[in-house]
Amino acid sequence: MSHEVPLPGGFINEVVLKDGSVRRPVGPHTPFVHRLLEHFERRGWDGAPRLLGIDEDGREKLRFIDGHVAIESGRSAYAESDASLVRLATMVREFHDLCADTDLAGDAETVCHNDLAPKNTVYAHPGPGAPPIALIDWDGAAPGERLHDIAHLCWEFLRLGTPVTDVGETARRMRLVCDAYGLDADRRARLVETVLWWQDRCWRGIEDRAAAGDPAMIRIRDLGAPVWIRGDYDWVQANRAALEAAL
Ligand SMILES: Nc1ncnc2c1ncn2[C@@H]1O[C@H](COP(=O)(O)OP(=O)(O)O)[C@@H](O)[C@H]1O
Ligand SMILES: [Mg+2]
Repeated sequence: MSHEVPLPGGFINEVVLKDGSVRRPVGPHTPFVHRLLEHFERRGWDGAPRLLGIDEDGREKLRFIDGHVAIESGRSAYAESDASLVRLATMVREFHDLCADTDLAGDAETVCHNDLAPKNTVYAHPGPGAPPIALIDWDGAAPGERLHDIAHLCWEFLRLGTPVTDVGETARRMRLVCDAYGLDADRRARLVETVLWWQDRCWRGIEDRAAAGDPAMIRIRDLGAPVWIRGDYDWVQANRAALEAAL
């Protein structure tokens, strides 16, 4: 048997590197994700891993993207730099545009990634201004509103919550993301409300799924995620007016 190397940074799946490619478990949602990855490949968009097939153990095989995944537990300064954020928002715009008006989006505006986060982003290097080169972990992808991904991106990449202290700087970077994406005024007006919607739904989802026995959610709950997500929510709620004024 070939050697398998566990890849760090995930909380949900057992992800390994074997014979030069990434292996991940499949689930009921996998066929949709594979259609999406194939769509990106056909359209020549290289901001997502290429699907290489199913391996001998029934796992999905993805191309390993050589770079640096932002999995540091502290602040990943490069992931939050202006240049990196601008490139990231541009990549999100690119794949949203590629999915709008396709069968994949159905009646929705586009297909959302739904888990845009530093730990799901491969950067060229871990230095200042590092460009993101690919978005990984498309398990949560589904038809949705463009704004949902932008709100999730702001929450995760700007750490909208504790221990963020500088509201003005955070608001400036939120605006930078909106400008780079090209978010219109109506959606900007709903951005902070949508961050709160995500945070609320996220901690409740973890609690509910853990209570139903989902082992990954039990692990995340026991690490304290619902408590710190509620802290994030409280911070955003308390600073809502200042953030909205800057957008
Ligand atoms: N295609 C890829 N290229 C490079 N690294 C990857 C790739 N896919 C996954 N990884 C690494 O494996 C980790 C876990 O993978 P991910 O797909 O995010 O699983 P999970 O669902 O558990 O979050 C990522 O944080 C990243 O470090
Ligand atoms: Mg992940």
